[in-house]
Amino acid sequence: MARHLITSAIPYINGIKHLGNLVGSQLPADLYARYLRGRGHEVLFLCATDEHGTPAEIAAQKAGEPVADYCARMHKVQSEIADGFRLSFDHFGRSSSPQNHRLTQHFAGQLDAAGLIAEVPERQVYSHADGRFLPDRYVEGTCPNCGYDKARGDQCENCTKQLDPTDLINPRSAISGSTDLEIRETTHLHLRQSAMKDRLLQWIDSKTDWPILTTSIARKWLLDGEGLQDRGITRDLDWGVPVRKGDQPWPGMEGKVFYVWFDAPIEYIACAKEWTDAAGRPDSDWERWWRTDHGAADVRYTQFMGKDNVPFHTLSFPVTIMGSGEDWKLVDYIKSFNYLNYDGGQFSTSQGRGVFMDQALSILPADYWRWWLLSHAPESSDSEFTWENFQASVNKDLADVLGNFVSRITKFCRSKFGETVPEGGTPGEKERALLDELDQRVRSYEMAMDQIEVRKSAQELRAIWVLGNEYLQSAAPWTTFKTDPAQAAMQTRLGLNLIRLYAVLSQPFIPDASAQMMEAMGSTDWSWPDNVEAALNALPPGHAFTVPEVSFRKITDEERADWQQRFAGVRT
Ligand code: MF3
Ligand code: ZN
Repeated sequence: MARHLITSAIPYINGIKHLGNLVGSQLPADLYARYLRGRGHEVLFLCATDEHGTPAEIAAQKAGEPVADYCARMHKVQSEIADGFRLSFDHFGRSSSPQNHRLTQHFAGQLDAAGLIAEVPERQVYSHADGRFLPDRYVEGTCPNCGYDKARGDQCENCTKQLDPTDLINPRSAISGSTDLEIRETTHLHLRQSAMKDRLLQWIDSKTDWPILTTSIARKWLLDGEGLQDRGITRDLDWGVPVRKGDQPWPGMEGKVFYVWFDAPIEYIACAKEWTDAAGRPDSDWERWWRTDHGAADVRYTQFMGKDNVPFHTLSFPVTIMGSGEDWKLVDYIKSFNYLNYDGGQFSTSQGRGVFMDQALSILPADYWRWWLLSHAPESSDSEFTWENFQASVNKDLADVLGNFVSRITKFCRSKFGETVPEGGTPGEKERALLDELDQRVRSYEMAMDQIEVRKSAQELRAIWVLGNEYLQSAAPWTTFKTDPAQAAMQTRLGLNLIRLYAVLSQPFIPDASAQMMEAMGSTDWSWPDNVEAALNALPPGHAFTVPEVSFRKITDEERADWQQRFAGVRT
């Protein structure tokens, strides 16, 4: 038994996430957490909301709420939706927590003491009408390169040129539209990432087993062009973690807060303290996960995220950890994902295009989405959600293959032997062959899961379901019964035991259906089938079961057409 720390990139607080966000971090992280728990390991699975930054402030303003209230409300909303998807976080924290404030300030103090912070005067756009400095992307104007009149201060989305807000012609505030802007000088803290470049490169190069997607992005940032840049880690905003050096004030930094990307990953750690604090447990209980000098040296730490998050997790956050000079746990494995597209285009939060997490749950149970998303995870390339594909996968894999197996065998047993596992008969060659194949397949499934190959794992699991169907088809207990009831009893007994085995193996993907199968089998034995033969004898003759309700229904063509229509346009 090992100890696994697992974190998912923490979703921004503003708004409800779409399915593309879900499949890129939280869902595969949950799959892995559930699998490892299923195999008997000790797991700490953490996630949180990412609550600071200008988007949160603006969303609160739009909602007409104080930003703290807005965040508290949206945290609850996101937390309930996460429950709806059965995301099994041990704690769902908040980056605005007092624990994260203190820890973020602590790290800044440590980094400063290590000489990794520089105070840099900068020129920034101040908006009189908005009463605030404007982050680059909130300054709009005409692109000096192509003339596009809605270019953002960080980049022109028309010609993709990287811009500085001062490059824009006729600049205006993207928040209020005001042109009453002024360039003001303000001093900010920079994290001297460049000083750690060699150490980072060495570290990344040592990770030969990481996904190429992860290491290639990291190496690009380390080596391309001018290489790793120092990065501003403070902002002139009200909402955020006030800049302090540990528990001391930071002269000259009054009224400033840390940049959201500085405090957000630190929440991975603070979240663990929120978790133990909430239960009134001592610090040693979370430190054993995070401090290598307090027992965390033998923890394996895995992070999940979309590819856009990779630079922060391979460069900036490691600089924070390594640079602190303290014994914090560094990540052992980073699993990153490409993008999921939606029906011929992109998911778009701003245009409300695609299916959002709350909408998904309002039309179908979590398992349907979990199965499709995970079996189509954008691992080696971007992947695409289409309603046709969704309908086909659900109807085939879940309804025809798994659901049909469960319903056939339980109904057959009830009608011929009653609702107890039947007695008699002896396994023969067919059963031996099935066992051998199952054994191989289960080992491949484990291997794929251990390597966090999500799609491959789904394929292996599906193949295991198919084996059951094929066995049932060829053994045909309904025919056997006519000539040899004892033999039919043995076949049926095996079928019922397969249902329990499927519950255990499928639980990481489709937890609700698995719970339903297990309950129907009248069992609470979730132990992992290290020995498949033994696992298939778990339900002995005489053991009571029930015929489960239909676990998966089919998606009709009418429903598909209706949903396609409903989610194509603007979210209302
Ligand atoms: N909120 C960011 C996003 O959704 C992810 C933050 S991950 C963390 O892209 F490491 F910063 F926490
Ligand atoms: Zn342009």
